[in-house]
Amino acid sequence: MNPSSADLVDRFGRQVNYVRFSVTDRCDFRCVYCMSERMTFLPRARVLTLEELATLGRAFVALGVRKIRLTGGEPLVRQNIVWLCRELGRLRESGLAELVITTNGSQLERLAGDLQASGVARINISLDSLQPYRFRNLSRTGELEQVLRGIRAAQAAGFQRIKLNAVILKGRNHDEVVDLARFAIANGLDLSYIEAMPLGMITDHDRAEAYYSGDAIRADLARVFTLTPSTETTGGPSRYYRIPGTVSRIGFISPHSHNFCSDCNRVRVSAEGRLLLCLGQEHSVDLRRVLRAHPGDPDRLQQTIIAAMNLKPRGHEFQLTGQPVILRHMSHTGG
Ligand code: GTP
Ligand code: 5AD
Ligand code: SF4
Repeated sequence: MNPSSADLVDRFGRQVNYVRFSVTDRCDFRCVYCMSERMTFLPRARVLTLEELATLGRAFVALGVRKIRLTGGEPLVRQNIVWLCRELGRLRESGLAELVITTNGSQLERLAGDLQASGVARINISLDSLQPYRFRNLSRTGELEQVLRGIRAAQAAGFQRIKLNAVILKGRNHDEVVDLARFAIANGLDLSYIEAMPLGMITDHDRAEAYYSGDAIRADLARVFTLTPSTETTGGPSRYYRIPGTVSRIGFISPHSHNFCSDCNRVRVSAEGRLLLCLGQEHSVDLRRVLRAHPGDPDRLQQTIIAAMNLKPRGHEFQLTGQPVILRHMSHTGG
């Protein structure tokens, strides 16, 4: 067998070249849009080992994947995460273009240097508020200053094009849209504004009431800045604008108001090894079973992944009113 990059194409002609690995469902924060206050985490035996994740990385890259993003929960609370980054970083010799991480920033002060040395190309850091009290309310346990130190550590370690992710919620942080852009500009960072997605039961707010659209955010920004549309892409769902005279890219991830499913190039693997074909659907294949039943059989793994492409649905069907259709929390898939 000689699988090639054309192998990961779904029924709608979309080529999958980006995989997101959730390396743990655990997190040191409890963001209100992501988790309920009380969460039960997976027992260790159900979570993929780092070796299994490295094996998966090799299989996906052999099938033409060019970008691997590590997510969580919080990926940097996983023990020995730097070892995994080094293993996956080596895949650049086999065709991987980018190993990247999305983090809440809490561990970056400790890990940024090692991550940079291990081959991680870019880091996205969640930052929903610049007000310490509010930041604590949104993350329930997080400390703003620790995250700001983490951002500075990532810059000092030499990371380029660090991107902030801000989930914007009406009545909680929508009045900080301009402040967040000013912060990104002042620090030479990129920034994506995200419409919250309904995954899992949450308790702190009503999702429909908290909806704040990408268009509303853009209107808020347009009162202060000149926004020029850009065709730049980072290979993810963000649609970027530029503000003349600054280096920052200002992105919008608007799954509700500007659906991007038709260009989807991504699949994800949950911490338990479930290959999820869409963030907003349950179609999945159990890769952990294949890894554990057939260790050392890369062909079997690759064939399973190829076959799974037929299950990839056209897109999500998120609804902001009523109970969420998808009961797994965002922390199981890392977004
Ligand atoms: P870049 O590589 O910098 O473009 O990052 P990214 O936007 O692909 O990844 P990141 O982890 O920063 O995710 C930002 C937001 O995009 C999160 O809220 C994710 O849940 C969301 N996101 C990423 N991929 C998808 C997707 O396929 N569908 C939906 N609905 N949301 C997605
Ligand atoms: N909707 C949209 N984005 C979310 N994230 C976490 N939960 C949600 C949600 N319900 C974001 C985090 C992080 C990224 C991986 O996903 O803020 O930046
Ligand atoms: Fe943790 Fe990220 Fe979820 Fe916040 S969004 S609780 S930082 S996994």
